[in-house]
Amino acid sequence: LLTVMATSIVDDTPVSGTLLLLLLLCILLITTLCLANASHIPGPFFWAGLGPILSYSRFIWSGIGTACNYYNKRYGSMVRVWINGEETLILNQHYYFETLFITLLVSHFCCRSSAVYHVLKSAHYIARFASKQGLQCIGMDGRGIIFNSDIPLWKKVRTYFAKALTGPGLQRTVGICVSATDRHLERLQEMTDPTGHVDVLNLLRCIVVDISNKLFLRVPLNGQWQGVFNQVFRRLVSSKELQDVMESLIETKRRIISESETLDDDLDFTSELIFAQNHGELSADDVRQCVLEMVIAAPDTLSISLFFMLMLLKQNPEMEIRIVEEISTLIGEKDVMTVDFQNFRVLESFINESMRFHPVVDFTMRKALEDDVIDGTKISKGTNIILNIGLMHKTEFFPKPNEFSLENFDKTVPSRFFQPFGCGPRSCVGKHIAMMMMKAVLVTLLSRYSVCPRHGNTLSSIRQTNNLSQQPVEDEQSLAMRFIPRQMTTT
Ligand code: HEM
Repeated sequence: LLTVMATSIVDDTPVSGTLLLLLLLCILLITTLCLANASHIPGPFFWAGLGPILSYSRFIWSGIGTACNYYNKRYGSMVRVWINGEETLILNQHYYFETLFITLLVSHFCCRSSAVYHVLKSAHYIARFASKQGLQCIGMDGRGIIFNSDIPLWKKVRTYFAKALTGPGLQRTVGICVSATDRHLERLQEMTDPTGHVDVLNLLRCIVVDISNKLFLRVPLNGQWQGVFNQVFRRLVSSKELQDVMESLIETKRRIISESETLDDDLDFTSELIFAQNHGELSADDVRQCVLEMVIAAPDTLSISLFFMLMLLKQNPEMEIRIVEEISTLIGEKDVMTVDFQNFRVLESFINESMRFHPVVDFTMRKALEDDVIDGTKISKGTNIILNIGLMHKTEFFPKPNEFSLENFDKTVPSRFFQPFGCGPRSCVGKHIAMMMMKAVLVTLLSRYSVCPRHGNTLSSIRQTNNLSQQPVEDEQSLAMRFIPRQMTTT
């Protein structure tokens, strides 16, 4: 239309027509640029400040995970909400076209990518966001790893975590997991109530705390410590009490180190941190917070994942048969320690499908450290971002996105569709060890017992909360399971 108007004017008066044409072209250019930069992110209305209050209330009232799912389902895969008065974007799988110019623009490809994957991989989003006051209360503000947004310090401590959770640490894991699981199963009677049921989440936590201690801390944990840890996971201990407990465990560790005659070649995580403190690399507070986060990371995520898996297994008996057959074929009469755990393909698909279908961690929080553009939307430095990976795992890429089915992992799943541990520079630093631990605990447990939830209990019938992670509400009824010995021989 603009061109037609301009052409008719140009025909009448050449000079003024050319000026008008230029003017119109400028308007066209400016309008195009404005449209390209305009942020039309859907989300609740501001409504004179009522919108932010309502949106924040929803997060407080229903929990972060549930609120994110609500907003993504209502407004689409990129939503703007307010948390604590701050604008926050919630992303789930969001495709956009990334243009790659290869070899001096000779070849030109367009490929589908996802906004979530872009944020995960990019170094622009390695900080997290959370309430500063909240983090200060629990000792995580600028300390430890999980919520530490002091980037130079975070980079330094992450190297200690990475060293402990990969390489030789990973090799020792299977042996430690198998023996800890066996040891707790030997004492199952002590945890069984008069009706023959075991509080299975409590059992799994005891096993995983034991494993974490043996891998990362290595101090004698008597029943008193186990009791304290149990209270920690039930959120019955204040963060101050927890820090005091940790302080005292680290003191014990310092004593053990100073009394030992030889220096261990294979230093554990806590010893490495204590030496770093002795060399002025880290403060005592850094050491305490890092050890605390390392020791509770696995019991908080892994025990609950395993609990969900045991529930799902009983709801899918044909899967249990396939897994038990696989265990029997791969282990048979062999010593479990000689078995390559990479070969448990069915078990691995089952673990992946469980994390996809009913994840314990279904979102992660990031902050933009630089300006960026995603799918034409300008992301300003400082923007808070929640990646709703739980919802992203329910996309049509999977043959049965809303069902629990091993078919979803029959084909190799490209990493942009499945990220239960995140990926990129700020991903779960324990992802490899977590997979190994889950396999080792499940193989040991399932080769000895068939585990049955109390009659009528299923994953959808038990009460759960979804605030920072998805967890069952801890009442004796829903967590109780019977352990029925299985006739299977492994050595
Ligand atoms: C971070 C999942 C087990 C240590 C994370 C994140 C996720 C996650 C989604 C955030 C990643 C991101 O922002 O991109 C899980 C799941 C687990 C598990 C599903 C088990 C089923 C573990 C274990 C450890 C661990 C066993 C250590 C022993 C950590 C740490 C971080 C983290 C330290 C923070 C990393 C950082 O901020 O640099 N995990 N995790 N996790 N995970 Fe895990």
